[in-house]
Amino acid sequence: MADRMSGKVVVITGAASGIGAAAAKRLVDEGARVVLGDIQDDVAEKIVAALGGADKAIYCHCDVTDEEQVRALVETAVSEFGQIDTMFNCAGIVGAIGPLESTLSEEWKLTLDILLNGVFYGMKHASKHMKKAGRGSIISMSSVAGVTGGLAPHAYATAKHAVVGLTRNLATEVCTYGVRVNCIAPYSVATPMVAKAYLDDHTEIDGTIAMLTEESPLKGRPGLAEDVANAVLWLASDESGYTSGHTLTIDAGITTGSIAGPPRFAEKSPLMREAGRSGI
Ligand SMILES: NC(=O)c1ccc[n+]([C@@H]2O[C@H](COP(=O)([O-])OP(=O)(O)OC[C@H]3O[C@@H](n4cnc5c(N)ncnc54)[C@H](O)[C@@H]3O)[C@@H](O)[C@H]2O)c1
Repeated sequence: MADRMSGKVVVITGAASGIGAAAAKRLVDEGARVVLGDIQDDVAEKIVAALGGADKAIYCHCDVTDEEQVRALVETAVSEFGQIDTMFNCAGIVGAIGPLESTLSEEWKLTLDILLNGVFYGMKHASKHMKKAGRGSIISMSSVAGVTGGLAPHAYATAKHAVVGLTRNLATEVCTYGVRVNCIAPYSVATPMVAKAYLDDHTEIDGTIAMLTEESPLKGRPGLAEDVANAVLWLASDESGYTSGHTLTIDAGITTGSIAGPPRFAEKSPLMREAGRSGI
């Protein structure tokens, strides 16, 4: 174990799977204590046990579409671990799919509720404590679909662009308090969400890695949840202490050039609003 996060407390939404779970492990390995929020209670409790139990990690049920639950998640970090140093807004789904003309408004609203409003609630309640403490790092999940067009369904792309905008705007507000705000924009990395979207089976991580390896713009190298977890670690640690308002792409360079085409996921991805129940 190293100690790049020694003494720091991190709150993570969507921590029961994929990138959130990988970040929790990476951060605890580096000495952080973490508060995990998700809607998959059983899976998350197992992750807490694997992380070393209550001295290292606590789980709270938290649906990010409910501001009160996000507020309570943040308060748990303060009441149980005494502080909050990093807020990682990670919870997500693919959401509404298909052409805009047939996108249902209910599905559109639900997608933005999770991918954008959930981030807003996390930023709002974490920044309040961080401003008082005079330090803190807020990290949110955007996507390559948040910095370029044509890579994801419309609602997803809209929310992820908005996360970039809110990150930049909040960074300018809270910099005078010593608080930093950044977001991360990955291309496809092998997680249950992507396995479900591409292979219709959220457990097919090996198959997803094989597919991403074959299709990777970076020869022989698939994107992994751990690649994003490493970026979260850097943005959470003091090593990134002069970085704020930044969108960190983790995409093997795909957003440096044009790969225009129809939006990815448009035909093959199901709605994943039932992530909790289906064990994603
Ligand atoms: N995997 C990728 O390739 C990729 C690329 C770019 C961005 N992202 C973003 O990264 C984040 C994590 O994605 P992932 O691939 O790890 O997915 P995942 O499905 O493996 O994990 C997402 C987690 O969010 C939780 N969640 C869903 N709805 C929730 C809600 N309402 N409240 C609380 N938790 C909820 C799920 O239960 C799950 O544990 C998402 O915001 C996603 O959009 C992922």
